[in-house]
Order: sequence, then structure tokens, then C-alpha cells
Amino acid sequence: MSGPVLVTGGAGFIGSHLVARLLGQGRAVRVLDDFSTGQRANLTAAVLGVDTAQLEVHEGSVADAAAVQRAFVGVRHCVHLAALPSVARSVEKPLDTHHACATGTATVLHGAAQAKARVVYAGSSSAYGNQPVEQKHEDLREDPLSPYAAAKFAGELYCRAFARVYGIQVVVTRFFNVFGPRQPADSPYSGVVAAFCRALLRGEAPRIDGDGTQARDFTYVEDVVAGVQRCLEAGTANCETVNLAYGRSTSVLELYERLAAIARERLGLAAVPPPRFAPPRPGDVRHSLADSSRAKARFGFAPQVGFADGLLRTFDWYHRAFVRSTEGSGPEGRSKQA
Ligand SMILES: NC(=O)c1ccc[n+]([C@@H]2O[C@H](COP(=O)([O-])OP(=O)(O)OC[C@H]3O[C@@H](n4cnc5c(N)ncnc54)[C@H](O)[C@@H]3O)[C@@H](O)[C@H]2O)c1
Repeated sequence: MSGPVLVTGGAGFIGSHLVARLLGQGRAVRVLDDFSTGQRANLTAAVLGVDTAQLEVHEGSVADAAAVQRAFVGVRHCVHLAALPSVARSVEKPLDTHHACATGTATVLHGAAQAKARVVYAGSSSAYGNQPVEQKHEDLREDPLSPYAAAKFAGELYCRAFARVYGIQVVVTRFFNVFGPRQPADSPYSGVVAAFCRALLRGEAPRIDGDGTQARDFTYVEDVVAGVQRCLEAGTANCETVNLAYGRSTSVLELYERLAAIARERLGLAAVPPPRFAPPRPGDVRHSLADSSRAKARFGFAPQVGFADGLLRTFDWYHRAFVRSTEGSGPEGRSKQA
């Protein structure tokens, strides 16, 4: 691969892990981010744990055609992660979500077509909606249930159309529930693993929306970004779509039990608070489980960390951040949010 890799949304949770991975391999990286949900601190050497001399940061929106055109100068590979990634936020502010996710994706693909760049687009399992099958595979008919799901799926449709019309190479990677260090833990839109870690560390009762029997395919962030890189570097034509997930179903109640056990062990406690239950959230999918066979067959997707180890690493990261924040010596940024 020649030239810098453009990572939109690189200051976010998943983006910052991808940036760290690429920089760690000696690749030049350019980030385009408007810092709406991402953090500048996520792009520092202290947080990334790698040398950032090869990192260039452009502040701007993916929906701004001029900013996107500037970001694509000299770029032949792009991973498009920028989005407002929350079902709940999209129910409150559907037009903001549409602007960032749908308009933003069309704008990025337009820039990629002009630069003749290969694109990996972060799609979402939310495209599937509720389906009468156990495992969601890529040939199912999409059925978005929320404005977020619709906007992310609109991005996928643009990927297919731009690949056809302008001949660019695109891979749509559908993420399921990604978790790991640096996921925001203190916002109403937080991922459930981050929110549970935060509550358990503070001695509070984690909140479960609904009865907790809803299930997710939780996938550790480092395994996801390794899969994204495989898709970026593979030689494929047109537009391909693959699930990037473990293909393992865990209910939210089981997730609570596992994290509670880790918290008891790591914190040396006899007991932790039981969960408290809240009404189910509108637009939420009941069960989400991936068939990941296509990503394995087409791109050699081979998760190295896995669910159990990923949960331990994630809890330990929030634990360290929590200790630092209570001692008042933590680095700036998200680590204080645990
Ligand atoms: N986290 C998950 O479980 C999950 C699941 C499915 C899909 N995804 C997708 O993965 C991608 C990354 O998600 P994440 O969890 O890292 O979220 P995140 O909020 O941490 O990262 C998104 C990044 O995009 C930036 N951004 C938002 N709007 C922008 C705009 N208009 N212009 C430029 N930058 C903008 C934000 O500042 C942030 O840095 C998103 O596309 C999301 O839809 C995530």
C-alpha cells in the first residue's frame, strides 16, 4: 500500500485502535474527524502507545466536500468509520444522524472515486433488524428498525452504487457489538460493556434496558480492526459485504454475570450490586448474532483475542482508568470517564 491511509472518525473508539495498529506497523495515517464524539486525546502517543510522527490530523466533517477532497490528496486507501453511532441518539435527532452517516458516506465515496481510492466502510449489524433466523448472514434482506440503522444502510447502498458507477473497490464490514478500551462509558449512548464496567467500578447497579434476555454478538475491538485491515489490503473488485464478528451469542444478563464475576475477582469483593431494570429502548433489535463464515473465507478473518479475554482486558483497562481518575493523576480525555 502506498501513501497514507485515510481513517475517517479516527479519533473515535474503533478508529483510534485502527490508527494505533497502522502507526505501529510503520504506516502513515491521516485522520479526518470533527471531534463530535471522538477525542483529540485519543490521537496522542500517550493514549495510542505508539509513535505519532507519521500521523496527520485534519479537523473537519465527512459531510463537507472540500474537507473530504483535501483529506484524500495522495490517498489510495481509506477506512470510513466516521458516524454518529447510536440508535438512541438517532431516535432523538434523526437528521443529525442522517447528515453524518448518509450524507457523510456519499461525500467520502465521492472523494474516494476522485482519488481512485479503495474504501472499507464500517457498516452495522443494525441493517438486519429482527430476522426469523438465528444467525444473520449477508444474503438476508435488510430491515433497518431505527433512523441510525437506516442511515448506516443508506451508506451501504451508496457503497454499492459508487462501486458500480465509478469502478472503485469497496468492502462493507458489518460490525456487531464492538467493545474494548476507550469506548465512552459515561454517556447515555455508551455501549453496554463500557457502561457495566463503569457502574461496577463505582459500586453502582448496572442498568439493563428490557429484561436482559436480548442477545448480542460482542466482539473485541482489536479483533475488529485486524479484520478491517485484512479487508483493506485484500484484492477485491466492486463492492463486497461481510460480517466482522465472532458468531457468538451472549445475552445482556449473561454479560452482566460475567463482568460481575470479573469485578468480584479483580476488586476482591464478596458481592457486587445486582442489575436494575429499565423499559426496553425503542428501535433496539432483540437478538443479534453474526454468521462470520464469509469474512473468514474471503478475507481470512481470524480473531486472536476472543470474547472472554477481551472482557478481562476491557475491565482491567477501565479499572486502571478509574484508579487514575480517583487519584487525580489520569491522562486527559476518555480515560477519566470510567
Ligand atoms: N461500536 C460499535 O459497536 C459499532 C457497531 C456497528 C457499527 N459501528 C460503526 O463503527 C464506526 C465507529 O464507531 P465507534 O464506536 O468507534 O464510534 P465513535 O463515536 O467512537 O467514533 C466515531 C467517530 O466519528 C467522528 N465523527 C462523527 N461525525 C463526524 C463527521 N460528520 N465528520 C467527521 N467525523 C465525524 C466522531 O468524532 C468520532 O471520532 C461507526 O461508523 C459506527 O457506525 C460501530
